[in-house]
This record gives sequence, structure tokens and C-alpha cells, in this order.
Amino acid sequence: MKFFIDTANLNEIQEAYDLGVLDGVTTNPSLMAKEGIAGEANVKAHYKAICDIVDDNVSAEVIATDFDGMIKEGKELAKIDDKIVVKIPMIKDGVKAIKYFTAEGIRTNCTLVFSAGQALLAAKAGASYVSPFIGRLDDISYDGLQLIEQIVGIYDNYGYMTEVLAASIRHTMHLIQCAEIGADVATCPLKVITSLLNHPLTDKGLAQFLADHAKANG
Ligand code: E4P
Repeated sequence: MKFFIDTANLNEIQEAYDLGVLDGVTTNPSLMAKEGIAGEANVKAHYKAICDIVDDNVSAEVIATDFDGMIKEGKELAKIDDKIVVKIPMIKDGVKAIKYFTAEGIRTNCTLVFSAGQALLAAKAGASYVSPFIGRLDDISYDGLQLIEQIVGIYDNYGYMTEVLAASIRHTMHLIQCAEIGADVATCPLKVITSLLNHPLTDKGLAQFLADHAKANG
């Protein structure tokens, strides 16, 4: 399973990368705004800075919602670095844009996916990644994990190459269950990745080992 970090914060990206388990980064316009990144030149420079930290897979989202606008913007984003994956919303022109970029050999991440039907469309258009938002479905009392299971099953049935990128992950159980289901990728905040480290028996066991060592060695 690939781990992506869902943030535009350079320190958090560096921290996750230094842990040695990071395979990529997902950003979105809200995450960029949270870091105060605004204006075309700053946005491009920030994506470049992210690309300079990680080895691959930096999702950069288009703002345009019409086909021509998405193509123009997506091409500009793709020029920043080979690591860029153009993130396109699941709307009619978005599906057309994914098809276009696939033919051009530019990788895409189809975002804001909330149904199996949308995921099927993204795969047929040739998206490199599809991003179902688990947490936002849970927030409205739908089962986000069931959607991941459905999409993994459908893609397996037909051998679609599109990777299932479980997004909007809120806690470690989401991540573990996505791994059990067989999602290809999970994107989550840094705290979800670092929370995987925690177990009280690890802390207790380590304290005991160190205490016994200290006793034996004076
Ligand atoms: C995915 O690519 C999105 O950026 C993200 O996972 C959305 O998460 P949220 O629902 O916590 O905003």
C-alpha cells in the first residue's frame, strides 16, 4: 500500500518523508489556502518545493471547471515537474480532461469521488488515481469504507489500471481497513501516519527492557 500525505505544509511533508514511508503528496485548493499560498507564481513555486522533497506523486489540483481551462491549467502544472499528477474534479468536463491527459501521457488523480458510478467513469477515462472521500461520506452517515470495497471489486472485475486512492481519511482505523480491503493508496494527515506508531504495550515493553538492562548493568 502506498502512503500519501494530505497537506501542503512543507514541514509536515518533510517529517513524513524523513520517516521513510512516504510515497507521495495530495494537495487541494483548501490545503494550499491554509498555508497562505496564493497567486500563480507562488502556487507553482510551492508545488516545486513539494516536488523537491518527495520522490514522486504530487497531486496538484486545477481550479478551472471547463474543459479548455482544465487542459490549459493542467498542462502548466504538469510542466512544473515530472512528479506532478494533475488533480481533476469528477465533473463532466473533468472526465473529458482526464481522457485528454491520459492520451498525452500526463498522470491524473480524479478527485471528489463519492460513488461507484463516478469511480467507474474515472477508470474508463484512464485516470491514474481515483480519490473516493471516505471521511466526508462518514460525516453524512454513509459508509465510506463500503464505497472503497465496491470500487476495488469493480476495478478487479475488469482489470482497470486506475489506482484506488482512499482520501479524506480521519483516523488510523480508516487506514487499516482500507489496507484490509486492498485500496492501493491512502492519503491522510501526518498525525494519522504517526499514530500508527502508537501502542501502549510497546511503550510498557520498552520501559521494562530499559529498566532490566539498567539493573543488570548497574
Ligand atoms: C484528497 O485528495 C483530499 O485532499 C482530502 O483527502 C480531503 O480530505 P478532507 O475531507 O479531510 O478535507
